[in-house]
Amino acid sequence: MWVLGVDTSCDDTGVGLVQDGQVVVNLVQSQTLHEAYGGVVPELASREHLKVLPRLTQEALRRAGIGPKDLDLIAATRGPGLIGALLVGYTFAKGLAWALTRPFYAIHHLEGHIAAAWPEGLKPPFLALVASGGHTHLYEVLDLGHYRLLGATRDDAAGEAFDKVARLLGLGFPGGPEIERLAQEAEEPVPFPLPLKDQEGYEFSFSGLKTKALQLLEKGLPKPGLARGFQEAAIGHLAQVVLKAARDTGHRVLLVAGGVAANQALQARFKEAGLEVHFPPKGLSQDNGAMIALAAWRCFRVGLPPSPLSLGATAYWPLEAP
Ligand code: KG4
Ligand code: ZN
Repeated sequence: MWVLGVDTSCDDTGVGLVQDGQVVVNLVQSQTLHEAYGGVVPELASREHLKVLPRLTQEALRRAGIGPKDLDLIAATRGPGLIGALLVGYTFAKGLAWALTRPFYAIHHLEGHIAAAWPEGLKPPFLALVASGGHTHLYEVLDLGHYRLLGATRDDAAGEAFDKVARLLGLGFPGGPEIERLAQEAEEPVPFPLPLKDQEGYEFSFSGLKTKALQLLEKGLPKPGLARGFQEAAIGHLAQVVLKAARDTGHRVLLVAGGVAANQALQARFKEAGLEVHFPPKGLSQDNGAMIALAAWRCFRVGLPPSPLSLGATAYWPLEAP
């Protein structure tokens, strides 16, 4: 059973092919044209998806050695994201589903990220942290399609903070891998205070770390030590909030998903936390199409109905109220 998954929620064009729950092809083309503007320009993102998506889909089919008629299910990200960008992939996928008369699944972007880290056979309930460039959300996964939001960021997303601090340090985009690399050169970390240490709830905050990084940089502290200090504080903060939630709720199983989950120091920190922790396999933590196909495959397998083709894309869509 072949599933095609498409993600065009932001500035990556993602096309994935999953066969019987196994990722066979996962192509991601990241847009570089935004670099000149210092941020993603929505209209340019949409136009680039339009240009890239048909060719990327053909290439994915070619690599899998199948044709469009071999597809059994078609899925795309319905939201949240940039509406113009979403519409390109979503409408393309719906058109394919209509032309091929195949079931279509409209997938929540964060449900895709969670599906990428969700190992076969793991039964809910468990905790799921999604940490990416646009989200830092901690959920209780009650079942497929049923999520309870425990806490989110008050300001910047975790990945956004990595990107902003990388920029301060004169590093490239995306900032996460650059900070991770520079941190390895440090002899010791410059200490950063942990945000929201004594809070009652499960919120996150990263803007204070970014300001602190700027202050320390202006004082002339070494960049590798700053990168390592920032990274340790950002990871320490994520871990502190998530482990408090695990203690309070009694959950012993945790998924960590989203672009930031690729960070090796983060993986090491969570692995030593005494919980059963799962991360996405390599290449599946960042935005991609295979995670959308995986989510659709799971929905299909448990008998959730496909989405009507009349359903539109949406920029704003909380996961806890699908
Ligand atoms: O999930 P993703 O590809 O896109 C969004 O949905 O936002 O996440 C991208 C984010 C970027 O902010 C990037 O800097 C961050 O994930 N990221 C990392 C690492 N690799 C990517 N952050 C920390 N360490 C990494 N190794
Ligand atoms: Zn994402």
